[in-house]
Amino acid sequence: MRSDIEQVLLTEEQIAARVRELGKEISRDYAGKDLVLVGILRGAVVFLADLYRQISIPAGMDFVAISSYGKEALSSGVVRILKDLDEVVESRHVLLVEDIVDSGLTLQYLMDNLRSRNVASLRVCTLLDKPSRRQVPVELDYVGFQVPDEFLVGYGLDYSQRYRNLPYIAVLKRDIYGGHS
Ligand code: PRP
Repeated sequence: MRSDIEQVLLTEEQIAARVRELGKEISRDYAGKDLVLVGILRGAVVFLADLYRQISIPAGMDFVAISSYGKEALSSGVVRILKDLDEVVESRHVLLVEDIVDSGLTLQYLMDNLRSRNVASLRVCTLLDKPSRRQVPVELDYVGFQVPDEFLVGYGLDYSQRYRNLPYIAVLKRDIYGGHS
């Protein structure tokens, strides 16, 4: 075990097995539909790359990034899109892909934004759900795992832009992040 990791919460094998299940479910639910996966940069990239390859029906992928002036800005609406979609999503079935849903503010903002583009449908797939931190209600259609309120890193999740490349999801030691989440 690395000295900066408290505990491995989800192993590489557990994640891969769940991603395969999610891929099957999504492939079944969207059969015959014009599906586009939209990853929210940057955390969702690792999960999206694996999920996409477990989807057996034709599907597109695209990405969106929003400015991070902090969560206060999100709740007050002072947010802008840093990188918009390249694809036109009107009349298409959009599946937003997240690594983790925490307060729900990121998703709430993006869902409102995407709904205004007259998509055929809009759903959410998140690998991790941390319901104990929710500030606004968001409906999650596909959830990999519910997780406790710990500082998590790996498989796309970062601390100070590090740890995203860990193949598993782990609890970071408190002395590394100083106890603030
Ligand atoms: C993380 C994560 C989600 C968001 C969830 O992104 O990837 O997008 O926070 O939190 P919320 O439910 O409280 O809004 P972050 O802003 O850390 O950027 P990153 O994806 O580049 O890591």
